[in-house]
Amino acid sequence: MTRPEILPSDLALVSPPSYTQALQSLRIKHTRIKQVMDELNCLIYPGSQDSILMVCGPTGVGKSALAKSMVKAENERSAPEMQADAGIIPAVYVEARASGEDDFSWRLFYQSVLEQLDTDLEIPKYHFDIDPITGRMVSPRSLKDRTLAGLRTSVERTLRHRKTRFLVIDEAAHIIHQTRRNRLEIQLDTLKSLANQTGVQIVMVGSYDLFQLMSLSGQLARRTHVLHMERYRQDNDHDIRAFHACVQKFQNTAEPVWGQGLMPYADSLHENTLGCIGTLSAILTRAAKLAETTGSWSPDHLRTALLSELQRKQILEEILDGEAAINPGLTRSMPKLPKTGAQQRKVA
Ligand SMILES: Nc1ncnc2c1ncn2[C@@H]1O[C@H](COP(=O)(O)OP(=O)(O)OP(=O)(O)O)[C@@H](O)[C@H]1O
Ligand SMILES: [Mg+2]
Repeated sequence: MTRPEILPSDLALVSPPSYTQALQSLRIKHTRIKQVMDELNCLIYPGSQDSILMVCGPTGVGKSALAKSMVKAENERSAPEMQADAGIIPAVYVEARASGEDDFSWRLFYQSVLEQLDTDLEIPKYHFDIDPITGRMVSPRSLKDRTLAGLRTSVERTLRHRKTRFLVIDEAAHIIHQTRRNRLEIQLDTLKSLANQTGVQIVMVGSYDLFQLMSLSGQLARRTHVLHMERYRQDNDHDIRAFHACVQKFQNTAEPVWGQGLMPYADSLHENTLGCIGTLSAILTRAAKLAETTGSWSPDHLRTALLSELQRKQILEEILDGEAAINPGLTRSMPKLPKTGAQQRKVA
């Protein structure tokens, strides 16, 4: 058989590999991710008293990426258990969507949770339960028709049936945004009772505004354990090395685009991104896209992709305010031990 002739016009149809996509899907398990994940893994276990955990950090530090990989890792770890019982969903990720209304919409929130717990809403719903064969939830009426109390009951029942261990709520500040101070506790109590009723630990994720809202009420602050996902600082050698290692990973991922041309700019990138890996990813993805579109690499693409001075200034202000609020809040001091007799004599 003769080979079909390849015409130059056919070659144009074969799209080159997209390094932009490779950069977008890259997930670096960098130092900060490992630190926060290890801390979360320590705090999430059956019977834990920490029913609500909170992960806060600057915008673009990679909080959503961390939250999604936590959930993915937990579900992968539980694969054998899930194979034995098709109904189990150990970890769930939802975004607390802004509804556009003045108050946070619990209805929308419960619907999002149910959508995640019930992977296919198109299946017939004859009665509310978990189908033992498909492992899917079946419920009597469409979600839209349910009362708020009915939705809440479904969420509680489904979380129990699904044997869910933790529920991550991203963009959690939306739950308490625009809430009057005296109602803040009611919002958090709603989550707290969900955790208590179901034995599910809730991980709220958000930027520093979440922490600042939380600290409006001492009661709220007391009942949540806060984890700080910090940027990589430019005044700390460990942080500088960890940030450079990330730039190196990005450089290797799209080497055909920029060769070895990124590392010389590692310090400038640290400065411009304020040490936030998500922001670094966004900048480098933009720069690679520009190079792919123009067909060649130039450091000018990197310059064009950087944050503008105004954007950087705005983000820096938010970070400094957030760090000032959270750092004293996270400083814990050990109580002083009473002096031993020998020590007391030495002092005398
Ligand atoms: N560890 C990582 N490795 C590679 N890319 C990452 C990593 N973490 C985040 N990114 C990329 O950076 C982008 C922004 O990160 P992410 O959305 O997680 O930031 P964020 O802290 O949630 O920001 P915001 O506060 O604005 O929601 C993501 O779309 C993702 O592609
Ligand atoms: Mg996010």
